[in-house]
Amino acid sequence: MRNKPNIGVVGCGYWGPNLIRNFNLLKECTLKAICDTDETRLASVSAHYPHVETYTDYEAFLNDADLDAVVIAVPVRFHFDLASRSLLAGKHTFIEKPMASSIDECKKLNELAEQQGLVLMVGHTFLYSPVVRKIKEIVDSGELGKINYISSRRLNLGLYQKDINVVWDLAPHDLSIILFLMNECPREVNCRGKTTSAANIYDVANMSLGFSDGGFAAVHSSWLDPKKVRDMAIVGDRKMLVYDDLDPATKVKIYDMRVEQPGTPHESRISYHYGDMWAPYISPNEPLRIEATHFIDCILTGETPMTCGAHGLELVCILTAASESMRNNGANILIENHIPRDGQLIGK
Ligand SMILES: NC(=O)c1ccc[n+]([C@@H]2O[C@H](COP(=O)([O-])OP(=O)(O)OC[C@H]3O[C@@H](n4cnc5c(N)ncnc54)[C@H](O)[C@@H]3O)[C@@H](O)[C@H]2O)c1
Repeated sequence: MRNKPNIGVVGCGYWGPNLIRNFNLLKECTLKAICDTDETRLASVSAHYPHVETYTDYEAFLNDADLDAVVIAVPVRFHFDLASRSLLAGKHTFIEKPMASSIDECKKLNELAEQQGLVLMVGHTFLYSPVVRKIKEIVDSGELGKINYISSRRLNLGLYQKDINVVWDLAPHDLSIILFLMNECPREVNCRGKTTSAANIYDVANMSLGFSDGGFAAVHSSWLDPKKVRDMAIVGDRKMLVYDDLDPATKVKIYDMRVEQPGTPHESRISYHYGDMWAPYISPNEPLRIEATHFIDCILTGETPMTCGAHGLELVCILTAASESMRNNGANILIENHIPRDGQLIGK
């Protein structure tokens, strides 16, 4: 392995240019090539990077660009095909979220990466966000007490996707954060959704996750809301935390608020504690820069990524259960292949 790996990015649509910009800025790697089947998209992005090779043919990009690693930012239905070809060609591979379209595809990609001895990383971007890392630190410190529940909302008007429903598009962000904070995969999922568009794809959904030991989380995802919302409440039995990703100045607030339960079953009065609110300092570093740096580190050291293929599979298990539940009017679905977390993969 050369000490500055050559990186190629496939997909120059909405998200790919963010990855291209970050890999291009990293001094630990060389952005060698970009690829898109759409010549117009490729030309408009490559205009900013005249030193980078361009390809419309993925096979030529894999064979001719002398790449060590491939970063995949194309629609989800193409993830498996492009990632399996990249791994078979001996390239370390980064796939955007969600990892693939099915549990089976994720398992095959994990097997392939293992057989080939290559790094396989999934773009669960929020786990590289200084905000989410600060929240994790606060939760792990015990300041909030025992986490009673988490509720998360990711709403906007659009962007409608053609190949995946709203849960597969938006909920991977909320789910990756919730699993990170709970340090556990849920055991069961209920989800109700509604289809309002002609495309017959669920565009509004409400998901509930049940964890062992009574832990509970709720995720509301929508492409059909008048107001853009990206927020999360983490409710502990001592304090409560609110994370508003759209607040430019104070994304995290900790409230010294709780319900005080009666001491014995004979006492029925519930009282409410109201105390101060405080906001921690959050480093302004860009999550994508941290994520890209981590991928390069893993390539150079052989370390398993913090968001490895096992995490991608875990998330796709939950998304699959949510889709099955929506098709069955919110039926309770046990998570297939429930993967116990061992604290080694997550929480670093
Ligand atoms: N991590 C995040 O926060 C985040 C945010 C948005 C999107 N994403 C993910 O990024 C991926 C891409 O999403 P998007 O919104 O940019 O999609 P997009 O449709 O805007 O862009 C995809 C691009 O891939 C190209 N493409 C499709 N098939 C190709 C192929 N076989 N070879 C080469 N190019 C091909 C298309 O021409 C298009 O330019 C998805 O997996 C999505 O879930 C992640």
